[in-house]
Amino acid sequence: MKRIAVLTSGGDGPGLNPCIRAVVRSALSRGLEVMGVRRGYSGLIDCDMTELDARSVGGILNRGGTFLGTARCPEFQTTQGQREALRNLNRMNIDGLVVIGGNGSLTGALQLHTLGFPVIGIPGTIDNDVNGTDISIGVDTTLNTILDAVDKIKDTASSHQRAFLIEVMGRDSGYLALMASIASGAELALIPEVETTMEQVVATVDDAYIRGKAHCIIIVAEGWKPGARELNDLLNARREEIGFGVRLTVLGHVQRGGSPSAYERILATRLGAAAVEALHIGERGMMVGMKKGTPGLTPLAEAVAFQKELNLELYRLSKMMEQ
Ligand code: ADP
Ligand code: F6P
Repeated sequence: MKRIAVLTSGGDGPGLNPCIRAVVRSALSRGLEVMGVRRGYSGLIDCDMTELDARSVGGILNRGGTFLGTARCPEFQTTQGQREALRNLNRMNIDGLVVIGGNGSLTGALQLHTLGFPVIGIPGTIDNDVNGTDISIGVDTTLNTILDAVDKIKDTASSHQRAFLIEVMGRDSGYLALMASIASGAELALIPEVETTMEQVVATVDDAYIRGKAHCIIIVAEGWKPGARELNDLLNARREEIGFGVRLTVLGHVQRGGSPSAYERILATRLGAAAVEALHIGERGMMVGMKKGTPGLTPLAEAVAFQKELNLELYRLSKMMEQ
């Protein structure tokens, strides 16, 4: 193996830059050349890549986003797109590829492996929904960003004696909402993994009011149905019943930006280096994840077979803390 490539794909998140840096520098230290592919699988199809040296990844450890760019690329889901990508990888004399991304991107990596190309995946998604890793790159910083926002909202909520619905990202996963709820001391987490009726929400808000709380914070996962906007309308329509006035804040893409936390930088560096080591020693079709504090391999097929399960013990913990 002489030359490898690295790309970031799917939704970005803090920690992708430190991970690219780790891939590049650990590959160089093993005597490998590294190509950086721009805009995820789109760059593979368009053969948009550049050689990366140690200096080209200097000064990015503390920067959010991904300097290589990322993309959602429907074309790569076609046989034609994958053939084009393979053709370019071979044309550029690339012997192995590191893909950093979420479930979709890792499914793409699995396709390349199935077609015979040496690939190693790294879980990079704020949703923390990838199997085979305790945590994905992007999650820790995003949670801290959410916490910062919730703490601020609490200040104004208490001043006005209001209930706040705070919608957070996560696609179909309630991980961010649940963890943010535990860490911020919210009154309720609404997540797709646990059915909660509108009546139960109304009762929770009403109960908080009667108990004399100054605010009621509800963290709503974007994947929770029927959704934060619908809940906001309903609670406002039943204003007299619940005591509190209600406001909705959708945190949106602010959650994906920002300088990676210390934990994130270390996680990304360890996984990036472990991915290069795995490629170098001949591992194929694997994902490098963090397992009980140590980087470990999971077959890509297993990693993407189903969405990582949420630990519902933590949901019970969040309920116990709400008194
Ligand atoms: P994430 O990687 O964050 O989950 P997406 O689900 O949008 O984000 O996937 C990112 C990209 O991965 C897609 O735009 C596509 O190029 C590729 N991808 C997703 N699913 C597949 C698939 N089934 N086969 C091949 N490539 C896929
Ligand atoms: O997968 C990461 C994520 O931020 C999800 O939490 C969210 O549902 C989605 O990406 C948003 O994607 P986009 O930036 O394309 O709107």
